[in-house]
Amino acid sequence: MKAIVCHEFGAPDKLTFADIDSPRVRGGEIKVRVRACGVNFPDVLMVQGLYQLKPDFPFSPGLEVAGEVIEVGGGVDGFKSGDRVIGIVNYGGFAEEVVVPAALTLPMPDNMSYEHGAAFPIAYGTSHIALTHRAHLNAGETLLVLGAAGGVGLTAVELGKLLGATVIAAASSEGKLAVTRQYGADYTIQYTTEDLRERVKAITGGRYADVIYDPVGGDAFDAAIRCVAWEGRYLVIGFASGRIPEVPVNRLLLKNSSLVGLYWGAYTLNNPAVIQRSFQTLMNWYGEGKLKPHIDRTLPLAQAADALNALAKREAKGKWVLVP
Ligand SMILES: NC(=O)c1ccc[n+]([C@@H]2O[C@H](COP(=O)([O-])OP(=O)(O)OC[C@H]3O[C@@H](n4cnc5c(N)ncnc54)[C@H](OP(=O)(O)O)[C@@H]3O)[C@@H](O)[C@H]2O)c1
Repeated sequence: MKAIVCHEFGAPDKLTFADIDSPRVRGGEIKVRVRACGVNFPDVLMVQGLYQLKPDFPFSPGLEVAGEVIEVGGGVDGFKSGDRVIGIVNYGGFAEEVVVPAALTLPMPDNMSYEHGAAFPIAYGTSHIALTHRAHLNAGETLLVLGAAGGVGLTAVELGKLLGATVIAAASSEGKLAVTRQYGADYTIQYTTEDLRERVKAITGGRYADVIYDPVGGDAFDAAIRCVAWEGRYLVIGFASGRIPEVPVNRLLLKNSSLVGLYWGAYTLNNPAVIQRSFQTLMNWYGEGKLKPHIDRTLPLAQAADALNALAKREAKGKWVLVP
């Protein structure tokens, strides 16, 4: 089968598009013919050796796929060849075939395209668990989303509106902010040219934001940590800016606020029930037409490096998807 292969850590251009053996299925696993795979910032980090998980070489990046079941391992109930599924893996998704743990395989609704299926689990799963299970966002509260037109950011805008929040979207260009308005953002801030704190203060009448969703870190964190409301919750999602910030903890004390970490992948090991409940809700909302994954670009699998470079250069809006 064809796959994108990483032989050494480095820039995405070092990846090769090669013929490799199809992975073997063991008990508790399912082999999927990949029809589409989602691209995520962690893929950019993983091929450079900058992600917390560093697989042995050679490996294929790719965390989420949609496709059809082609083989079912021992002890797996509920799936058969031909079923349309979404799969979540630690890596290996940028390939024509991938083996997925049955526990991380989801039936795909009939009305869902493979592109939507591949763009769905990580972005929506991360934002949903962050906003509900971790930050307890309430209807009527104000949510500030940084990197709001990115993969996870845009789903935070969309879900924030669905949960009844007033959403302030912050992003680096007017083109990105326009996309966030399509997804329901009530207010937008171009945080590379405007003073984030002054704008959030003016928009909220001096109360600031009850929940802040931050996949960016770096300078954006330094500005946004000063935008937390009384008893607010600051969600640490990621560091796409490349800098892990430090927090003056007196800010938390003064505002009776909380800094809340969220690593979605850790729930697959530590508490899969949280992910399963979240997906049930998200799939119901998708079925009701309440969620519309934003597919910015779909590229052939062979062009994976172009997609990873687009994310690294801050060019992507919503999700990019690769099709084998
Ligand atoms: N905690 C979790 O479980 C979890 C799950 C998935 C992803 N993540 C993390 O969340 C972050 C975003 O992931 P994603 O897949 O949504 O990525 P993405 O689509 O590339 O979005 C990242 C956003 O970060 C902003 N950004 C600011 N400085 C940047 C820089 N120097 N390079 C690239 N982007 C920059 C960009 O928005 P502007 O241009 O508007 O600033 C961009 O839209 C990553 O750090 C990722 O590792 C965490």
